[in-house]
Amino acid sequence: MASSNSSLASLAVLLTAVLCLLLPAASHAQLRVGFYNTTCPNAEALVRRAVTAAFANNSGIAAGLIRLHFHDCFVNGCDASVLLSINPGGGTTERDSAPNNPSLRGFNVIDAAKALVEQSCPRTVSCADILAFAARDSVNLTGTNSFYQVPSGRRDGIVSRATDALNNLPGPNSTADDLIKGFAAKTLNAEEMVVLSGSHTLGRSHCASFLFKNRERLASGTISPAFQALLEALCPRNTGQFTPVTTEIDLSTPVVLDNNYYRLLPLNLGLHFSDDQLIRNGTLNVFVNQFIANQTLWKQKFFAAMIKMGNIEPKTGTQGQVRLNCSIVNAASSSSSAVVIEMPLVPEDHDEVATS
Ligand code: HEM
Ligand SMILES: *[C@@H]1O[C@H](CO)[C@@H](O)[C@H](O)[C@H]1NC(C)=O
Ligand SMILES: *[C@@H]1O[C@H](CO)[C@@H](O)[C@H](O)[C@H]1NC(C)=O
Ligand SMILES: *[C@@H]1O[C@H](CO)[C@@H](O)[C@H](O)[C@H]1NC(C)=O
Ligand SMILES: *[C@@H]1O[C@H](CO)[C@@H](O)[C@H](O)[C@H]1NC(C)=O
Ligand SMILES: *[C@@H]1O[C@H](CO)[C@@H](O)[C@H](O)[C@H]1NC(C)=O
Ligand SMILES: *[C@@H]1O[C@H](CO)[C@@H](O)[C@H](O)[C@H]1NC(C)=O
Ligand SMILES: *[C@@H]1O[C@H](CO)[C@@H](O)[C@H](O)[C@H]1NC(C)=O
Repeated sequence: MASSNSSLASLAVLLTAVLCLLLPAASHAQLRVGFYNTTCPNAEALVRRAVTAAFANNSGIAAGLIRLHFHDCFVNGCDASVLLSINPGGGTTERDSAPNNPSLRGFNVIDAAKALVEQSCPRTVSCADILAFAARDSVNLTGTNSFYQVPSGRRDGIVSRATDALNNLPGPNSTADDLIKGFAAKTLNAEEMVVLSGSHTLGRSHCASFLFKNRERLASGTISPAFQALLEALCPRNTGQFTPVTTEIDLSTPVVLDNNYYRLLPLNLGLHFSDDQLIRNGTLNVFVNQFIANQTLWKQKFFAAMIKMGNIEPKTGTQGQVRLNCSIVNAASSSSSAVVIEMPLVPEDHDEVATS
């Protein structure tokens, strides 16, 4: 009897311990708007300050930051793995893979934002969240009256592999089928794929991403011959991956988040083969026409899809770490356990606020 009592008692202790461990983890499994309300109330304003300064210097940076967030989220979830310049496991990083190097930009803006945030609230705000905020601020700066709330609470990953980038990111030669399947694998449906492709209303592309494939499009009559002649004149004959020559994807309004990307497609002025694919498939083309007809509708769907993309396989709770330097994982001695202990203590407070 005594022994069964004591085993009951120890079971109770064990259960309590397990619950204590599980509760914070369970409540952190979801990203939440205002995750840093109490731990770093200025986090989003500080990121915005860094992005606004960078945008004033170079407006193209907005496109860079939106693409950086996309390329982060599609490869091992939104965990800032794309920012790592050294893979602790050795080998080439995502950042150095062909889809990312040399075309990705905006790393220095994230570093600047991180420096501001670390000054104000050390070891608290993840690089993955900074990237999600920075992408949102970029949307805000390029789109009139555009603002969406970003759920946060992401933790940073500790792995970055070039092969994962190659296997998970769509490329400029992707067919409609590839695009639909690739996005479906990341919880995004065909409509959301078309919606998010509208980001190509911003930014630039390197010659290697379109020049050779567009010669095939010329032969099949799916690109404007005048447009391809322009691109041929722009790009060096010996174009390779690292040729620095670029063109705007939306030639007329490259810094404005409008629906012009969709308008260009039926004119055979889509820059990449993958862009053109959106009008060659009947299902996808219906969405393209809807967004041409109604820009407000597209923007509404764009914000929702950006939030959904930001929710791909996030690491939360005690998973991963809060990186101190966005380019490298924390040194073992900088004690990610200190972060693990800090995190449950404070967010538990807002769990109560949030659920009451
Ligand atoms: C649908 C599949 C997609 C494909 C195949 C694709 C492909 C590309 C390619 C080839 C470039 C040019 C890279 C270069 O050579 O410089 C590019 C640029 C860009 N992409 Fe995508 N993309 C896709 C979806 C997206 C999504 C979902 C987003 C964001 C939500 C996005 C945002 C951007 C932006 C903003 C740029 C311009 C980057 C800059 O100016 O630095 N793309 N994309
Ligand atoms: C943070 O504050 C905002 C504004 O008061 C509120 O909407 C949000 O739910 C809060 N989030 C958390 C996690 O406390
Ligand atoms: C300003 O933009 C240029 C490119 O347009 C870049 O080389 C430079 O580093 C930027 N300066 C700052 C302070 O961000
Ligand atoms: C950015 O968002 C704010 C709302 O917080 C809005 O007042 C402002 O007009 C937006 N700016 C742009 C350029 O969309
Ligand atoms: C569009 O592409 C999808 C995926 O490949 C395919 O299932 C569908 O039949 C295509 N729809 C049309 C109308 O071409
Ligand atoms: C796309 O296709 C073109 C033409 O076949 C080829 O030269 C180019 O290397 C391909 N690009 C990628 C990223 O696969
Ligand atoms: C465009 O879309 C918006 C948002 O969904 C909707 O409120 C509006 O009625 C649509 N406009 C037209 C002309 O269909
Ligand atoms: C972050 O790490 C990179 C790579 O080691 C280094 O070059 C950079 O100076 C570091 N940044 C800060 C703010 O310590």
